[in-house]
This record gives sequence, structure tokens and C-alpha cells, in this order.
Amino acid sequence: MLGGIAGVAWLDHSRSSRRYLARLHRATIETLLNVLHAGDPFSARHSRRVAALAGELARAHRLPPEALSEIRLAALLHDMGKLEEHLLPIVLSPDRLSGNEREKIEEHPREGAHILAPLEEIHPGLIGIVSSHHEAWNGGGYPRGLSGEEIPLGARIISMADVFDAVTQPRVYRDADCIEDGIRLIRSGRGSRFDPDLLDTLDQPAVTARWIEIAEAGRREESALQNVAEEALV
Ligand SMILES: [Fe+2]
Repeated sequence: MLGGIAGVAWLDHSRSSRRYLARLHRATIETLLNVLHAGDPFSARHSRRVAALAGELARAHRLPPEALSEIRLAALLHDMGKLEEHLLPIVLSPDRLSGNEREKIEEHPREGAHILAPLEEIHPGLIGIVSSHHEAWNGGGYPRGLSGEEIPLGARIISMADVFDAVTQPRVYRDADCIEDGIRLIRSGRGSRFDPDLLDTLDQPAVTARWIEIAEAGRREESALQNVAEEALV
């Protein structure tokens, strides 16, 4: 009898510990995103959109739920390296980047991996994804020039979502491409920048449609924020 009561109490305790750890984990990730938002609000919004796009692609690619949540997490944090002291002023500059500045910015995947290294113990593979999100299928990316399946699958997924969001959302120094052009641009990277199998998944009509919806919602948010900023200047 006493053993039964002790067993129930132990189960309750272990369930509430798991819930507490899950809350603590969510709070940690949200805090990191708030830090990113404080330094570079655009990158924080971009990262949330990239996580949504990457999640859609990963689910349609039939990845198991654990892999899906690891990819979403890596997508949320993929650009943390841009907060490094010597990179942030370049990231925040309203001008187009010079060659030298572009070279410096290419350090951000490694810097991101460095910042996130303490999370690797509880998210094995996280820093491998973050450090590889600018690698290209044909070996022409950075920082290591990895190619094909040497690049973690999560990084191959995030890379497509990252480029799509970058070209379909407006920036101070460039207008956004139309969303259909963004999809065409991603398709044109078949076998050069992007994994052909993932492009087949993106071509599923339901996935393409979700990517378009996410991009449209992002454009509404970006343009509302721009209107607020312009009104503040009047
Ligand atoms: Fe990046």
C-alpha cells in the first residue's frame, strides 16, 4: 500500500519535473530570441519565418517529430552569430555591403556555433546545423565548402528557407522580389545551391502554398512596421 502511494507520488513528481524542464527550455529559447530582437529586430522576425518555412518543408519531407523540432530550433537560432560585436554594426548598416564587409559577415555561421555551443549537450547536432546553413549542395558555400550529404539535412532545409525569406521580404536597401519569383529562384538552385530531393518536396502544391502564405504574412508584418516607423518620422 505504502509502496503504491510512494510510486504515485514519484510519478507525479517526475511529471511535474518534466513539465518544469519543458517550460524552462521554452523560456531559454524565447530569451535568446529576445536578445536577438534587441540587437537586430529584423533578424529575429526573419528567424521566426525561417523556422515556420523550414518546419513545413521538414514535415512534408516526412522527418520524425524529434528531427522536426530540432530543425525548428536551429532555424530560430541560425543567425545568432550576427550579434557578435564586430558583425552587428555591419548587419545594421542601411547600405549595401562592401566586399570586405561581406567577407566578415560570412563568419556569422561559425560565430553562431560558438555562441550556441553550451546548448549542444542537450541538442546534439544543433551547432552542426547552425554552422552549415550557408553551405551549398555543390560545395560552393561557406564557411567550409561542404557538399551534398556532408551538409546536415537540417542545414540544407534551413538554407532554402533562409534564401526564400531573404529575397521575398523588403529591406531598407532593396525591394522584395515577388513571392512567385522567390519560389522560382529557389527552384533554379537545383543541384547547385540546393538539395534536389528537398526541391521535389517543395514542389508539392500544399508545401508551395504554405510557403507563399508565410511570405505574405511576413510582408504584411514588415510593411505595418515600416508604416509605424515612417509615421514616427513625420
Ligand atoms: Fe545566415
